[in-house]
Amino acid sequence: MYTEKVMDHFQHPRNVGEIENPSGMGTVGNAKCGDIMRIYLDIDDDQIIRDVKFKTFGCGAAVATSSMATELVKGKTVQEAMEVTNKAVCEALDGLPPVKVHCSLLAEEAIHAALWDYCQKSGAVINGLKKPKNDISEEEIEEEY
Ligand code: FES
Repeated sequence: MYTEKVMDHFQHPRNVGEIENPSGMGTVGNAKCGDIMRIYLDIDDDQIIRDVKFKTFGCGAAVATSSMATELVKGKTVQEAMEVTNKAVCEALDGLPPVKVHCSLLAEEAIHAALWDYCQKSGAVINGLKKPKNDISEEEIEEEY
C-alpha cells in the first residue's frame, strides 16, 4: 500500500536531527493521531535555506513526508519553500494512501511554522504565509509526553 519512495524515506529518512540556534523552528501536532513534527531551518542572508533538519514523533508516513519535505525545501529561497505544498510532497513520494494524506499536511504545516518563526525573528516577510493553526508550544509538548 505504500510506494517504494515512501518506504525508502521511512526506512532511510533524510535530514533527521536538530540545528543549534536555528533561523527558524516550527513544531506542529495533529490532535487526532497525536503525532508531532518539528522542523529546524538554517537560512542565510539571501533568504536561502542552507540546511534543514527534522524530528518526527509519529507514524511512518509522517516520517517519510517530513523527510521528503526537507529534501524539497533545501537550497530553496524561503518564498519557494513556502510554496512547497503537501500535494507536492505527496507527488514527490509517488502518492500516499488517502488515510495518510493528513501526515503530509503536517509536513507542510511544520515547514510553515518554521518559516513563521524565522519571520518573527528576522522581520522578513513571506507572501501568503500565515501562522499555522496546529503550531504548538514547548509547554504543550512537555505535557503531552
Ligand atoms: Fe497522523 Fe500520520 S497518522 S501524522
